[in-house]
Amino acid sequence: MDAFKIVTDEAWHAQFTYEVLRSVRNRTRIAPVFPETPTFTSELARIHEELPSQIRGLDEMLFAIVSETLISSVLDELPQDKRLPEGVRDMVADHAVDEAKHHSYFSTLLRFLWPAMTPRERELAGPYIPRLIFAFLEPDYISTALGLRAAGLTDDEVEQVVTDVYARDKVVDGIRRGAAPTLQYFVEAGALEHGATLEAFQETGLII
Ligand SMILES: [Fe+2]
Ligand SMILES: [Fe+2]
Repeated sequence: MDAFKIVTDEAWHAQFTYEVLRSVRNRTRIAPVFPETPTFTSELARIHEELPSQIRGLDEMLFAIVSETLISSVLDELPQDKRLPEGVRDMVADHAVDEAKHHSYFSTLLRFLWPAMTPRERELAGPYIPRLIFAFLEPDYISTALGLRAAGLTDDEVEQVVTDVYARDKVVDGIRRGAAPTLQYFVEAGALEHGATLEAFQETGLII
């Protein structure tokens, strides 16, 4: 029952987000400069291709658990940003309310899923979790650069802004903050008891 409701919520999120995008474009007559495919979508497709065949099919479930339990800075901070039009802030705030419900559904799902996997499946899947977290939370540098370029900055200026704003330490700190609940659920599920999984989390800086 709850899963059906979430599917309905997500279809609605896609619809109203698309409607807002379209009306911004129509009213401002400015075409979006972002690429058709966001960077995270290509990264997820790459992960899907690389996954060992034994855990194919589990990946989409894990994608959903990771993305639905993260706290994205867009949903969290954007509604408070007074520089943005109210309609945009309200739209994102509505989305955030639904996502809070999805969060509890997917954290519960993980509690059932992880123990139901075989030890081998857990060992194979675990090390991919940090990559999934980064795919969803790492800033989209390409889109940012295109946006800055469209705002009139030169190539050199764009590079300088991106390097300054997205210093690696700061980026990783931000991802660690956003991923804190997700990490907690995977720890509780026992995912980090496996050495390779723990190492993958340490290497990416998600655990220090
Ligand atoms: Fe959503
Ligand atoms: Fe959701």
